[in-house]
Amino acid sequence: MSRITLTRFLIERQRNKQLINADLRLLIETVARACKAISNAVTKGALAGNLGSAGTDNVQGEVQKKLDVLSNEILLEANEWGGNLAALASEEMETPHPIPTHFPKGEYLLLFDPLDGSSNIDVNVSVGTIFSVLRCPKVADGGYCEADEQAFLQPGSTQVAAGFAVYGPTTMLVLTVGDGSHGFTLDREMGSFILTHPDIRIPEDTQEFAINMSNMRRWEPPVKRYIDECLAGTSGVRGKDFNMRWVASMVADVYRILTRGGIFMYPRDEKNKSGRLRLMYEANPMSFIVEQAGGAATNGSDRLLDLKPEGLHQRVAVVLGSKNEVERVAGYHK
Ligand code: F6P
Repeated sequence: MSRITLTRFLIERQRNKQLINADLRLLIETVARACKAISNAVTKGALAGNLGSAGTDNVQGEVQKKLDVLSNEILLEANEWGGNLAALASEEMETPHPIPTHFPKGEYLLLFDPLDGSSNIDVNVSVGTIFSVLRCPKVADGGYCEADEQAFLQPGSTQVAAGFAVYGPTTMLVLTVGDGSHGFTLDREMGSFILTHPDIRIPEDTQEFAINMSNMRRWEPPVKRYIDECLAGTSGVRGKDFNMRWVASMVADVYRILTRGGIFMYPRDEKNKSGRLRLMYEANPMSFIVEQAGGAATNGSDRLLDLKPEGLHQRVAVVLGSKNEVERVAGYHK
């Protein structure tokens, strides 16, 4: 059987299912191409002088790595000329990036975290790129509204596509356009993403959790209760042992959960009162992908995809992964 490239996968979604149009197809292919360029830069590491700090802080006050800055530039340059975008927003930039006036504009809004988990770069652990696509809201005359910050503040349930690349032992791209979540492996010789993990399904039950345990003393009671019960193993109410994993790269932790199940938690706590992860660049796209793979995603009390964003860089509590475990944690919050 012939291999299904990302291009063929997208064309079939356009032609047979009318799930995407030509503009959205071009947009996804362009993001995927940028991810290949980022993958190359990550792989070269110190050989290309890419490691270490850029000497600047981002909008979140975090130290930017050289590869954060480079990845952001790669994504901006790749996407601003295609004529399919109204604006772009990045975790690394305070305000939306408008399309330069000498390029045509389109109907979509692209958001991205150019290099997630970038504290892992210098220690040679997996990092990745997360992206989300929204439609620019229409105004009364049928045209598109001003692509300012307000235009981006739509609930995650309105996303038309989301995906992430993980630059690990292999470079993988996971994508959803609303008909399941699908995984593609980068064939470096061919320069193509090949569909290798169609219709990913997250097992509903799991015995593996991912959380930064060093924050334990600051957690809220429902989270503390859930983790205590996992740690009690066969001697506790759960009656089974649990395993723990924490890569500190959301892309790698979520990829593992898509592959073999698990629950990922970055709850709010006394220090991170609203949570640590970003709603627009991390929680929303990952929630879309996880739900499309049969999993669930909540902030404890509400489905993440239902939240109405209040700011482009808003932080949020995240609990996602195997459905039955996520529902258990949500139940403890009630
Ligand atoms: O938001 C960036 C991020 O690096 C995530 O990818 C990851 O899950 C988390 O932060 C790691 O947090 P910590 O530094 O608390 O382990």
